[in-house]
Amino acid sequence: MSDETASSSSQSPAAKKKKKKESLGWMDWMRGWSSVFGEILFQRITASHLLNPLSLPPLNHLTCLVTGSTSGIGRQTARQLAEGGAHVVMAVRNTKAAQEMIQQWQNEWSGKGLPLNIEAMELDLLSLDSVARFAHAWNARLGPLHVLINNAGIFAMGEAQKFSEDGYEQHMQVNHLAPSLLSVLLLPSLIRGSPSRIINVNSVMHSVGFVDPDDMNVVSGSRKYSSVVGYSSSKLAQIMFSSILFKKLPLETGVSVICLSPGVVLTNVARDLPRFLQALYAVIPYFIFSPQEGCRCSLFSATDPQIPEYWETLKNDDWPVCPFISQDCRPTNPSEEAHNTETSHRVWEKTLELVGLSLDAVEKLVEGESVKCRYGSQDE
Ligand SMILES: NC(=O)c1ccc[n+]([C@@H]2O[C@H](COP(=O)([O-])OP(=O)(O)OC[C@H]3O[C@@H](n4cnc5c(N)ncnc54)[C@H](OP(=O)(O)O)[C@@H]3O)[C@@H](O)[C@H]2O)c1
Repeated sequence: MSDETASSSSQSPAAKKKKKKESLGWMDWMRGWSSVFGEILFQRITASHLLNPLSLPPLNHLTCLVTGSTSGIGRQTARQLAEGGAHVVMAVRNTKAAQEMIQQWQNEWSGKGLPLNIEAMELDLLSLDSVARFAHAWNARLGPLHVLINNAGIFAMGEAQKFSEDGYEQHMQVNHLAPSLLSVLLLPSLIRGSPSRIINVNSVMHSVGFVDPDDMNVVSGSRKYSSVVGYSSSKLAQIMFSSILFKKLPLETGVSVICLSPGVVLTNVARDLPRFLQALYAVIPYFIFSPQEGCRCSLFSATDPQIPEYWETLKNDDWPVCPFISQDCRPTNPSEEAHNTETSHRVWEKTLELVGLSLDAVEKLVEGESVKCRYGSQDE
């Protein structure tokens, strides 16, 4: 008998039960895909009570930061928030494109009210240095931040596995690691703007995701990489991290953390799909939201006055996951795996390690202390 067989047969039932989970169980996987197809088929029916565009309360007192606002859902979100009176900061990697958009929106808005209060700042989520530098520049203004919308995201469908300059799998970096670093480093400004909100544009695809905190880059070989694995895992990791952040931020900070699913939306996210899938995307417009419809959940989560009450109720109930809003702007529950608190804690720790923050960074920032980050070479 080999050593390996001997040791496995001598394991106690409890040890066997504790064996590391290496993928989603098939029941969870089936449930996950039925949620995905359910959203595609029924989103128009479940969201039929929503106006398009969504009507917004007055927003003149708000400063809102929207990442990835040069295209799709983020572009509509930024424009509508600005037209509602908010001071909007477009945090984008292509500032030239953003400036041109701002000019065009100002021209189209002219005569309807005061000029839009909107500006662009450079942020490249594929570089954690860029994220830390952005947060430092923003915090140096010493102004309040009321709403941070982590909207930017990628789904490099069908592409080979790629890594950022920081060495992380690109979906994990753009969709989870970089927005997490941004949220933590901007806490001083969010606390200054309290009551304030961190809104994470997530996806129903999180429900087919699985995160191994020891293999966030999907390189160990225990799971085969595909863009679906990369995307869905990054979205699940974002919910898990947000759930621990939700727990760690005391009620008194007034900073709520919300994840949402915008629905299936016709945007540039489909630009990397194979040709035939892009064609399919375009010929089934009945099922798919326009960007104006797809941004309603972000706008609702950013501005609805009931959101802080909902967040407070969940906090008082010691709810294991952060608030999650579905594409019909109703609270819902993320997947079963998202409720795995043991993994969520490990994802929290691993994420802080990968983005170069200490484990007590949030506690320190809440106390008003500065923290060191391995990236950006500045204290926050
Ligand atoms: N569309 C859907 O059906 C759907 C469904 C569920 C969830 N979502 C989520 O919704 C969010 C918005 O996506 P979308 O559908 O509106 O897609 P999109 O049209 O492709 O917009 C994505 C935005 O993210 C920006 N971005 C990408 N990589 C970036 C980086 N490294 N640094 C900074 N910005 C970066 C893009 O900037 P550039 O213009 O410079 O490329 C763009 O402005 C994403 O988080 C996505 O996962 C979308």
